[in-house]
Amino acid sequence: MSAIDAPKGVVEYLPPESATFLAVREALAAPAIAAGYGYAEVPIFEHTELFVRGVGESTDVVSKEMYTFDDRGGRSLSLRPEGTAGVMRAVIQHGLDRGPLPMKLWYAGPFFRAERPQHGRYRQFFQVGIEAIGVDDPALDAEVVAIGDSGFRSLGLTDFTLEITSLGDSTCRPGYREKLIAFLDTLDLDAATHARAQVNPLRVLDDKRTDVRRQLVDAPLMIDHLCSDCVEHFAATRAYLDALRVSYTLNPRMVRGLDYYTKTTFEFVHHGLGAQSGIGGGGRYDGLMAELGGQPLSGIGFGLGIDRAVLACRAEGLPIADERRLDVFFVPLGDAARLQSVATVGELRRAGVRADLAYGSKGLKGAMRAADRSSALYAVVVGDRDLDAGVSQLKDLTTGEQIAVPLNQLVATLKEKFL
Ligand code: HAM
Repeated sequence: MSAIDAPKGVVEYLPPESATFLAVREALAAPAIAAGYGYAEVPIFEHTELFVRGVGESTDVVSKEMYTFDDRGGRSLSLRPEGTAGVMRAVIQHGLDRGPLPMKLWYAGPFFRAERPQHGRYRQFFQVGIEAIGVDDPALDAEVVAIGDSGFRSLGLTDFTLEITSLGDSTCRPGYREKLIAFLDTLDLDAATHARAQVNPLRVLDDKRTDVRRQLVDAPLMIDHLCSDCVEHFAATRAYLDALRVSYTLNPRMVRGLDYYTKTTFEFVHHGLGAQSGIGGGGRYDGLMAELGGQPLSGIGFGLGIDRAVLACRAEGLPIADERRLDVFFVPLGDAARLQSVATVGELRRAGVRADLAYGSKGLKGAMRAADRSSALYAVVVGDRDLDAGVSQLKDLTTGEQIAVPLNQLVATLKEKFL
């Protein structure tokens, strides 16, 4: 029968490299946990309407990239392309917005976008995200940005830039949008781009074609058209970032692929990844909760790409995880030795020493090969005759050196080495 491959565009993490994936996920979440964020586990599928309303119907993410299907009851569901809308839905549904604010949550898991797969861009990818809901305070903006920054830095990453800007709010953005549309109207653009300019003019600022870029040099920028509230909020956010000693550059041309952003918006851009350089991004989304039928509360958060952070670590040559899975591997020779080994391995595991043994009837040679491949640093060889003498042979698999250890001292000896 022919074998079946995974669907196109998915990424898989298997031993030994999967140890790095787990370590990166843990490192990216640690600063949020240290700042009091609580863990949220929300569904990976939601009503399609949630993303249409929350993320925006005209975004590529919703209009072109969602995995949407009807369930058995004929309801339209979609695999989550991002995490913010689902977390906000849960906050509203379970009344978390009625408790102490800000409500701070973190999450991690798979997200789905039917994009064209390439290095660092997958159809199922993984994020660690946080959302801080209900307080419009620039100190909170700085906290969120700093948490993302310290997650990446704790991995040892240095070759990245934090870019920030302000996308304004419902007071100043509509006027700016009109100005931008009027400006784009005067340019020599193809029909599709002119049409895009009407629906989502900000997106045109992100056009990568040189002839379009050339014409955009004098485009009006949101950052020059902020209302006084947004100017103040942005200045205060930057002052808090300075206080936290988080360095950043201003990128007034930043364009995010999701429609909900207001005020502070940011991206972490890595310089060693080629085209898919965004290792994380986020921002404030002050109209989202009301848009989803909740109270008119503000919010800010980010999503950090675990897959891209793993690639960035590789690009910077950082050894992240100990890919060794075992400390010691037992090689029992004979039935009585096997019974003894099973018991000792169980005892070592309970004590926290990573231990395994050769299963099946491999014979000494096969079992020693299994020990060598196991990633363990030591092998313990026990024969039935050793049992009678009350000893085992402890072999250092790196040097090949072997010593006899009395069976009744074996657990203590290994605990001393590994704990
Ligand atoms: P996003 O910028 O769309 O934001 O995604 C965040 C990160 O997820 C990106 O910076 C990137 O590292 C990773 N990512 C996105 N798409 C892919 C892909 N196809 N393959 C691999 N990695 C990918 C959000 O999703 C927002 N929900 C973040 C947020 C939370 N904003 C406010 N709160």
